[in-house]
Amino acid sequence: MQAHESRKKQSGLNILVVASELYPYAKIGGLADVVASLSAQLHASGHDVRIVIPRYHRIDGEAYSLHPCLEPMGVWMGDTEEWCSVHITTGDDGVPVYFIEHHLYFSRDGLYHDQAMHDFDDNPRRFGFLSRAALQLCKDIDFEPDIVHVHDWQAALAPAYLKLWHWNDRQLGQAASVLTIHNIAYQGVYPKEHLPYLGLGWHNFTPEKFESFDRINFLKGGIYYADGVTTVSPSFARETTTPFGGFGLAPYLSARGPCFKGILNGIDYSLWNPQTDQHLPAHYSLEQPENKKACKRKVQELFDVQQDEQVALIGVVGRFVEQKGFELLARTLERILGNMIVQFVILGTGERHLEQYYGDLPKRYSGRVGSFVGFDNMRSHLIQAGCDFFLMPSLFEPCGLTQMYAQRYGTLPIVRATGGLEDTVEQYNESTGEGTGFKFWEVSEDALYYTVGWAISTYYDRKEHISRMMREAMKRDFSWQHQAHEYEATYYQAIANKKKWDESHTSYYW
Ligand code: ADP
Ligand code: GLC
Repeated sequence: MQAHESRKKQSGLNILVVASELYPYAKIGGLADVVASLSAQLHASGHDVRIVIPRYHRIDGEAYSLHPCLEPMGVWMGDTEEWCSVHITTGDDGVPVYFIEHHLYFSRDGLYHDQAMHDFDDNPRRFGFLSRAALQLCKDIDFEPDIVHVHDWQAALAPAYLKLWHWNDRQLGQAASVLTIHNIAYQGVYPKEHLPYLGLGWHNFTPEKFESFDRINFLKGGIYYADGVTTVSPSFARETTTPFGGFGLAPYLSARGPCFKGILNGIDYSLWNPQTDQHLPAHYSLEQPENKKACKRKVQELFDVQQDEQVALIGVVGRFVEQKGFELLARTLERILGNMIVQFVILGTGERHLEQYYGDLPKRYSGRVGSFVGFDNMRSHLIQAGCDFFLMPSLFEPCGLTQMYAQRYGTLPIVRATGGLEDTVEQYNESTGEGTGFKFWEVSEDALYYTVGWAISTYYDRKEHISRMMREAMKRDFSWQHQAHEYEATYYQAIANKKKWDESHTSYYW
């Protein structure tokens, strides 16, 4: 084992990454950012990283210089053969990205659901196919991964396919798998009738593997078959092994013992840096923070709130879903606006009723609340830079990237201390002025209201504390340089686990 590890460390690992989102090609949330930035860091550390994602309809082949790699590629599913083609490009970071093109599955608007937020009925087929296609690709291009790193339920069948279908392949027989859970609330649970297409075999339809209340649960099966399982912060790893936080999967995660752990996400400092950010009207830094004011003016102008340098400005960016605490915020926001001198700028998209509520607020609080319903990268960067505070009242948060971006930009997070928010924000200490943000624990309107009030009163009454916190926040190191080693250690552990599995599973019917 030792000799094997050191050989691999010198030469670097071959790593196949399978995901349903990747920045800048297809992004709905932080998954896209993390898959891109972690892969870039691993590539920079000397590993041969290849990423596979679907070729969604909206990905502009010309803009990203996609070119054909395999045309056609046949992929055996359990009861039928699918035909697709594969395109390739190399990102600015040097990582090759393979796009699986299958018109029936991916040539439509939306990644997972239609405009009315209804999940596509054929999602189990679409993403089961993605996992199989990614592995078939390795065979067709003769790539021998040491690690197949899959993200979320959309790629969670690949670990099972490796053990059930590819255990004896030259290219894939040695590959160990790691499953990273970014959001355990989404598990990919579907009618069992899809099982024959997915090629999993009925012996896999048992409670410890894929079966969940007589349906197939993709994530659950991935947790069983992967050689290592991670989630995106240590606190969330702890929460998921409790009955409430595990969304039904706590016993299965606990059963994996030390093979399951939390690794905090990093952020990409080449994209999220107030000194170089191309979306800002002016740049600033820890040493020269003056231009943050110019960013504040720009945000106020863009969101049509009163141009006032002195007033406390709170930014909100996120998917309008229950997880993010947007219902709780909607119930509390007007009390905040009624009693505090504060402005809000809000950017998001998601559930229709929340889009409507936040979209209509500027009409009712003209000059004090600005909002934009939609996905807009420029606005998200500007909010991080131009606001005084960044609010995340999440009910649960596996990691959260935006509170880390905010700190990098000297914008103080106000958060519910759950998952990664607990791990990345240091509570303000009113007697010393230390800390990087304001945290509350209880899910209640009062807790949210009084914590925002605490931040706002600090802003007006203890300005020297705010300046000190901004400096502390900007100094925090959330880079991947720091975090990627933990993934490397996980990969070597997964390789060792896979050997043990192979030794104890010598017949086909696992
Ligand atoms: P999650 O993945 O749960 O949505 P994260 O905080 O990990 O939460 O990541 C969210 C990512 O998506 C961040 O990069 C954030 O800036 C971005 N984002 C979310 N909503 C929008 C939006 N409406 N417009 C632009 N970027 C957005
Ligand atoms: C998920 C989580 C978020 C996390 C992101 C990237 O979407 O909701 O908390 O930061 O994945 O790991």
